[in-house]
Amino acid sequence: MAKNKTAFKCAECTYQTVKWLGCCPECGQWNSFVELQEQEGLGSLKASGGQKSVVMTPLSSVAMHQKERLCSGIAEWDRVVGGGIMPGSFMIITGDPGIGKSTLLLQLSVQLAQRYTVFYFSTEESLAQVKDRAQRLDCLMGAQLLFSDQADLSTILETASQAKPDLVIIDSIQNCYVSQTQTAPGSIAQLRETGFHLMRLAKEQNITVMVSGHINKEGTIAGPKTLEHLVDVVLYLQGEDRWQSRVLRSVKNRFGTINELGFFQMGVNGLQEVPNINEQLLNEMSPVPGAALVSVLEGSRPLLLELQALTIESKLGIPQRVVSGLDHKQVVLIAAILEKHLKIRLSMQDVFFKISGGFSVKSSSTDLGVALALLSSYFQRPLPEKSLALGEISLTGQIKPINQISFFVKEAQKFGIKQLFVAYNQKVESTNVLIKSFHSVYELLALFTD
Ligand code: TYD
Ligand code: MG
Repeated sequence: MAKNKTAFKCAECTYQTVKWLGCCPECGQWNSFVELQEQEGLGSLKASGGQKSVVMTPLSSVAMHQKERLCSGIAEWDRVVGGGIMPGSFMIITGDPGIGKSTLLLQLSVQLAQRYTVFYFSTEESLAQVKDRAQRLDCLMGAQLLFSDQADLSTILETASQAKPDLVIIDSIQNCYVSQTQTAPGSIAQLRETGFHLMRLAKEQNITVMVSGHINKEGTIAGPKTLEHLVDVVLYLQGEDRWQSRVLRSVKNRFGTINELGFFQMGVNGLQEVPNINEQLLNEMSPVPGAALVSVLEGSRPLLLELQALTIESKLGIPQRVVSGLDHKQVVLIAAILEKHLKIRLSMQDVFFKISGGFSVKSSSTDLGVALALLSSYFQRPLPEKSLALGEISLTGQIKPINQISFFVKEAQKFGIKQLFVAYNQKVESTNVLIKSFHSVYELLALFTD
């Protein structure tokens, strides 16, 4: 006869052990171990599923259902999620508290509710608070959205399973609770369990589930990272310091490209789309010493970004290199290449470097722009107005061509870029833009000296 084994589970992170422990080795929580029910024990898996088997299916005979995506009409959103929401997907939108997740979800659901049935569970705010926000957003009238402030997961699941709406929104998942579990809402164990049940709701009943979740700084309460492997789509809503801008970024998408960006602006009437971000970025630029324009691909869209360099004679023994938005090593390396090949004393200078608009990029196609920004600041000479640098730089000081240049050139032309700085062997389709090509960094000097 099989002997029943006793096991203990951490109520915080579900770590299992055969002995009771005072402190969980996984999450560090004290007094969190509870004895497992007999069927939950470590050996229960084999006993409960031992008799069953499945019929394996060749992939070629699997039936496919052409699913029409749920489009909201908010173009920035629809593009980021891959051309509309895939029905039956499980999505999470995360970001700092107060960044605008609830605002975005409300605006989005109002749009979607015009064509689809949407159930909105507000687990954090009362219905009166949600109504107040809807009034502020001027989207109260005519909206077919259905609300509840229910936060008990089993009630939410039952409601959704019975009524079968197209979309279930839960704002936020951290406040949702499973009444059978004794841990607090927002703990890792609760989040895992909630996430698992919501995933089953989405997959088994083909109901799209979208949840919001905060990123927290302390790390004591479980963050939405716990859910990332469970969901199909992970979206981050991030804030930029200036112009109240909000960037929506897809970091995981089983139905589309990742790193796609959507731009919004928080105003008195909620989040407004910024369809033409490059126009806005270019309007803020001016041809001054230290500034160079580059273009990088974010998702499927090329962005025009201004690099800003400041070089100044160092007053300290060890000159400073302060870089934000770019890889620190990239700037240090290019400064070293310029020093070696151009015989300029950059190593005696403090170098400060940043990207306009608080963006952060990682692309070697910005090498040439970095070199030009550094030289422009060093010689205190601006680059020609509306000129764009697209090229890599090798350790030997050679300028190298970049991939997919036609994307960047097409976008640059739309915004009246007049001049392109590229590698001598870079193939550029005929354009009405002036092209200036270089073999090596040495030739860049001519742009700053007469
Ligand atoms: P909210 O959507 O509640 O953030 P989250 O759900 O991510 O915590 O947004 C809160 C902030 O947005 C709050 O500081 C007020 C601001 N806000 C506006 O500026 N304009 C608006 O129209 C709305 C609805 C909110
Ligand atoms: Mg909120």
